[in-house]
Amino acid sequence: MAKAEQIIELLKSHITGDDHRFFAIAMQVAAHEAQQGHEKLAQELKMLIDKAKEKQSAIKTQTSIVSIVQPKGELANLLSAEYTDITFARLTFSDGITKRFKRIIREQQQQHALSKHGLSARRKILLYGPPGTGKTITASALAGELKLPLFTIRLDGLITKFMGETAGKLRTIFDTMKTTRAVYFFDEFDAIGGDRHLGNDVGEIRRVLNSYLQFMEQDQSESLILAATNYVKLLDTALFRRFDDVIEYGLPDKDQIERVIRNRLHGFKLKSSIKWENIVVEAEGLSHAELTRACDEAAKESILSKLAAVSEKLLLEAIQERKHAGTQHNK
Ligand SMILES: Nc1ncnc2c1ncn2[C@@H]1O[C@H](COP(=O)(O)OP(=O)(O)OP(=O)(O)O)[C@@H](O)[C@H]1O
Ligand SMILES: [Mg+2]
Repeated sequence: MAKAEQIIELLKSHITGDDHRFFAIAMQVAAHEAQQGHEKLAQELKMLIDKAKEKQSAIKTQTSIVSIVQPKGELANLLSAEYTDITFARLTFSDGITKRFKRIIREQQQQHALSKHGLSARRKILLYGPPGTGKTITASALAGELKLPLFTIRLDGLITKFMGETAGKLRTIFDTMKTTRAVYFFDEFDAIGGDRHLGNDVGEIRRVLNSYLQFMEQDQSESLILAATNYVKLLDTALFRRFDDVIEYGLPDKDQIERVIRNRLHGFKLKSSIKWENIVVEAEGLSHAELTRACDEAAKESILSKLAAVSEKLLLEAIQERKHAGTQHNK
C-alpha cells in the first residue's frame, strides 16, 4: 500500500494542479509496489497513469489550437512563439530576485488600476549574469505566471540574417507589441548592447542599437520587454536608464544549492542519511543549470540501479562530474 505521506503528496499536487509532480509520485507508488512483489497492482497503476497522461495531452492539444497566437508572414522569421506553464514555484532564486519578480507580476496583473492614476506597470526589464543562472527560464516563468505568449528574438541571429535590414525588422517587432500583448524576450542582448564607443563592427550594430533605444523609448504598449545578457560590462550605459528594472543574477549560494537540488528531485525519494554540508561544499561554484543536470544524472543512475532513494554518494559523484566537465571546458 502507498504510504500516508505519498497519499498526502498526491492530494497536494492535485489541489495545486501540479501534474508533473502528481504523475511522478504516482509512478513512485507503482515502483514501490513492484519492489514489494505486487506486480499486478503495479501494472494496473502504470496503466492508469499512462491513460491519464494521454487524456491530458489530448486536452492540451485541443486548447492550444484555439489559444495560441502564431506569428505569421514576416514575423514568423523574426521570432519564435511558445506558450509555457512554467511558474516560479519550481525555480530557485535569491530572496532579492524573487521579490522583484513578484513586484513585476503584481504590477502587470493590476496594470489597469495603475494606469487609471497615470502610473505604468514596470515592463522593460534587463536580466544579466553568468550562464546557467536562470535568465532564459525567467522569461518562460514570467510568461507562464501571466498566462501570456512568449516571443523570443535572438538578436545575434537577427543581425546575421538580415544584415542591413535589422532596424526595419526591429520596427516590425515593436509594432507587434502594440497589437499582441505578450512577453517579448530579446536573448543575446549584448549582440547590440555592446558599448557604442568601442568601434567594433560599427555601422550596422550602432544603427540597430540606436533604433532599439528609440523604439523602446517610444513604446507605450502593454507588452513586457525582457532582454538578457552575460556581459553586462559591455553594455552601453545609455541602455540602463531605459529599463524599469535591471536584475543581476548570480551563482547559487549554499542555501540555494540545497533548494535547487531538493526542487529538482522533488519527485524522487532522497536518502535521509544525506549530509547536506558535504553536498553544498562540493557543489559550490556550479550554476543552477549545472546543478540541475547533476541531479538528473543522479536520479537516472538511481533508477537504473533500482535504488529506492537517491543517495549522497550518487549526488556527490554527479556533482564532481559536472565540475570536471566545467574545468575541461574552460581549458
Ligand atoms: N534559478 C534556477 N532555478 C532552477 N533551475 C534553474 C535555475 N536557473 C537555471 N535552471 C535550470 O537550468 C536550465 C538552463 O537555465 P537558463 O537557460 O535559464 O540559464 P541562462 O541564465 O539563460 O543561461 P545563458 O546565459 O547560458 O543563456 C533551465 O532550463 C533550468 O532547468
Ligand atoms: Mg539564456
